[in-house]
Amino acid sequence: MAKNEISFILPKPDSDIPIYRQIYETIRRGILSGEFGSQARLPASRLLAKQLGVSRMTVINAYEQLFAEGYLSGKPGSGTFVAAQLPEEFLQIPKAADAKTGVEPPKRRLSFSAYGTRIADDSTAILSASGPTAFVPFQHGVTAIDKFPFDIWAKIAAKHLHSPRKGIFGYDDPAGHWPLREAIAAHLRTARAVNCDADQVLILNGAQQAFDLAAKIFLDEKASVLVEDPCHAGAKRSFESVGAKVVAVPIDSEGFDIGRAPKNTGAKLVYVTPSHQFPMGVTMSLSRRLALLEWAQVSNAWIVEDDYDSEFRYAGRPLASLQGLDKNNRVIYVGTFSKTIFPALRIGHVVVPKDLVSVFTAGRALNGGNSPTVDQAILAEFITEGHFARHVRRMRKLYEERQALLLDQLHKYIPSLRVEKMDAGMHLVGWLDHARDAREIAAKARDAGLKVTPLSTYAVRKIEPDGLILGYAGVSEKQIREGVKKLARIL
Ligand SMILES: Cc1ncc(COP(=O)(O)O)c(C=O)c1O
Repeated sequence: MAKNEISFILPKPDSDIPIYRQIYETIRRGILSGEFGSQARLPASRLLAKQLGVSRMTVINAYEQLFAEGYLSGKPGSGTFVAAQLPEEFLQIPKAADAKTGVEPPKRRLSFSAYGTRIADDSTAILSASGPTAFVPFQHGVTAIDKFPFDIWAKIAAKHLHSPRKGIFGYDDPAGHWPLREAIAAHLRTARAVNCDADQVLILNGAQQAFDLAAKIFLDEKASVLVEDPCHAGAKRSFESVGAKVVAVPIDSEGFDIGRAPKNTGAKLVYVTPSHQFPMGVTMSLSRRLALLEWAQVSNAWIVEDDYDSEFRYAGRPLASLQGLDKNNRVIYVGTFSKTIFPALRIGHVVVPKDLVSVFTAGRALNGGNSPTVDQAILAEFITEGHFARHVRRMRKLYEERQALLLDQLHKYIPSLRVEKMDAGMHLVGWLDHARDAREIAAKARDAGLKVTPLSTYAVRKIEPDGLILGYAGVSEKQIREGVKKLARIL
C-alpha cells in the first residue's frame, strides 16, 4: 500500500554520491515503485532534515531537483506532494500496434486547416515526388557527385570548424549569411545578367522554398496563377497548397506564351522556366519574354523566374535571365545549388525587387529561420575563391559529353525513340510512338534498376505521344552504355 512517510532513508556519509542525491534517488524510486502514492504528502523539509540528521539545505536541494523534474508538486508553505502525473508517464512511447495481439490503436478523425486538408489529400502524390535520390540511370536532376571537389570543400569546412568565429554559430539573419548573399549577387550579375544588389538576395533551403514563399505571399484561396504545361511539379503543388487556381498554359518551341493564356483570369502570379523549360527543354524566345514582362506590368502581376539549371548551356552565347531584361521590377528570380553542387546541400536563393525584401525575409523567418550558417559560410568561400566557377566549367564540359554519348547510344540501340540534342540542361526527352505507354515502360525500367520518368507526370493536359525524361548529368559513361542496352530490351 502506498504510504507517505519517509522513514527509511539512511544516507551514507562515506559514499561518493552526495547526500542530497541519495535522498533524491530514494524518494524518486519510492514514487516510481508506487510506494509513495499519487499526491501523497511528503514531510516538511525541516522535519525530514531533523529525522535524517542532515542540514535542511540538503533536503531542499533534493526536493528542488524532484520539483524540477516533475515528480513533486505543491507550493512553498502549503506542503509538498507526489505529482498526480509522473514524468515517466509522459515519456512512455505509445506502441503503434500491440506486437503480440496485432491490435491497431483506434483510428482518429483528424481535422486540419484548409491548407492541412489540401496537403493531406494530396500527400501520396507529394511524397512520391520527394524522398531519397536513387543514383541509377537515368535519374534526372542529379549532379555528378563523384566529380565534386570534396577535398576543397572539406578544407574550407575544416577551416571554419577548427577556428570557429562566434558569428556563424548563433542564429543568423533570416535573409541569409551576408558573405554568401554578396558572393551570389556578384556571380548572378556577371553569369546571368541579373540586376541586383546583395541585399535583394535571400538564401533559402532550395528553390522549393521560394515557390512556397511566393505562394503564401501572393496567392489567396481561388486566386489564379499561370504555369507552364508541362510544369515543375514542386512549384505547382506549392501554389495548389494555398488553394490557388492553377491555370496551365501550353508551351511550344518558343516556350511559354502569355498570348495563349486565357483572358480575364485576374492572375497576379506566373511561374516560368525561360532559360530551359522544365521538362521540355525549350528556351523562351526574346519576343515572348518581352511580351510577358509587358503583361506583368500592365496586369500588376509578378513573374517567378525559375533559373534552376541555366549554368549548363552548351551552344550559342549564354542567355541572359528574364530578370535582367525587366525594367519594372516585376520578376522574382529563383536559383538553386541543387544542380551545380548537389541537392543535399539544400541551399537555393531568391532575388526579389527591393520593395519585397522585407516581406520575403519575414516569411523566411517564419519558415525555418535561416539556412545552416556553417554551410552558407563554406559555400560563400567556395564561390569567392573561384572553386564554384571552375567546378561549373568542368561539369559543363562533362555533361555535354555525357549528353552526346547518351544521344549516340540511343540512336544506335533504340532508333524508335525520337530524341534530339538539347542546347542546355541535364536531361533529354525521348519521344515514344503513339501506341506506347510511358508509365508501363517506367514501371518495367524500375524493375530493371533504371529510372525513366514519363513526361506526362508533369503535364496538366494529356500529352500525346508521351515521352521519357532521361537524365544524364549524374550518370557515368559506363552506366549510360549499360542503361541504354537495358532500356532497349524493355522497349
Ligand atoms: C524546374 C526545377 N526547379 C527547381 C528545382 C530545384 O529545387 P531545389 O532547389 O528545391 O532542389 C528542380 C529540381 O528538380 C527543378 O526541376
